[in-house]
Amino acid sequence: MLILNKTARVFFKPSKRKVDGFLRSFNFHPGILFLHKIVLGIETSCDDTAAAVVDETGNVLGEAIHSQTEVHLKTGGIIPPVAQQLHRENIQRIVQEALCASGISPSELSAIATTIKPGLALSLGVGLSFSLQLVDQLKKPFIPIHHMEAHALTIRLINKVEFPFLVLLISGGHCLLALVRGVSDFLLLGKSLDIAPGDMLDKVARRLSLIKHPECSTMSGGKAIEHLAKQGNRFHFDINPPMQRAKNCDFSFSGLQHVIDKIIMQKEKEEGIEKGQILSSAADIAAAVQHTTACHIAKRTHRAILFCKQRDLLSQSNAVLVVSGGVASNLYIRRALEIVTNATQCTLLCPPPRLCTDNGIMIAWNGIERLRAGLGILDNIEGIRYEPKYVV
Ligand code: KG4
Ligand code: ZN
Repeated sequence: MLILNKTARVFFKPSKRKVDGFLRSFNFHPGILFLHKIVLGIETSCDDTAAAVVDETGNVLGEAIHSQTEVHLKTGGIIPPVAQQLHRENIQRIVQEALCASGISPSELSAIATTIKPGLALSLGVGLSFSLQLVDQLKKPFIPIHHMEAHALTIRLINKVEFPFLVLLISGGHCLLALVRGVSDFLLLGKSLDIAPGDMLDKVARRLSLIKHPECSTMSGGKAIEHLAKQGNRFHFDINPPMQRAKNCDFSFSGLQHVIDKIIMQKEKEEGIEKGQILSSAADIAAAVQHTTACHIAKRTHRAILFCKQRDLLSQSNAVLVVSGGVASNLYIRRALEIVTNATQCTLLCPPPRLCTDNGIMIAWNGIERLRAGLGILDNIEGIRYEPKYVV
């Protein structure tokens, strides 16, 4: 009931720029009137409450995001009920901000698109129940979104990338390599057998207590590792990349995490410091873990490119590798991937960092892609459920 009242406020708040927004939703050509498709996208699958309004030409009309990173940094990881509570506290404001910024009145929306899978059950539930009530009040079509599909298609909002292309998604919750053959046509080539690279970097950063480091205290684990690695020497530790002999495109990061744990313990002994204090060799450890992660990701991606080219699944001369997800904002990892794409005559494309991490724009854009392709647009929302489990 509380949420119902909140959505009602979003819906009934009169838009100051209603006429402007209405006019913007049309393109005038002499004698012809085109109605643009406009989608509101809502994302709450993990720890970001995000919303955006995007039109079919890729214009971001309005956007808002509330990140929970700071809270979860303090608790040393995401506590699902805390994430749920924060989503509840922020979703109405965030959706309202995105709509107000767009100047679009809710009645002008073509559809509402919301992440329903995969993710944290408690987080997905907040976005879905809020969206379904909005859909019901506005009488708009609903487009359920697969979070990974949205990450993969984001690049098409900014670059003219045709299908098929290869996508590498690397973040705190996901790690996969897939051939994208169409809006909802993915061939999974490889995935992490255990944890995602961002999760591993977050754990290493926590073990190194980087939150206490004056330069890193507000950074995510991965960003803190990248920052500190610039001051370190990766050659101080000799670590083998995981799965060197595996004849597939899968990944593994938990073995690397254990190797780093052992190194940290050893160094704590040598330096005579307690767990929780910052090692003088922290920057070297950060450089070594970042380098090994980059090598592993680059090698598995190289295999996937060769596999696709051998089987003519990708163009021989015009193949595109898209890299996205929070870890894709790491410039060292990007450079390692650049070496691979240069060697295989591929083009490497990465969305800008703000579109690599979770956001509402990618969800709205996925809605536009699905509207254009006529895929998965629901007029009847009965029986819609969120699906926390990861399925491609
Ligand atoms: O895509 P994202 O915002 O959320 C999901 O996991 O879906 O990615 C967040 C992850 C975190 O694990 C964070 O440590 C990592 O991306 N990350 C980075 C960098 N910035 C964020 N990892 C490496 N280098 C970075 N610069
Ligand atoms: Zn994500």
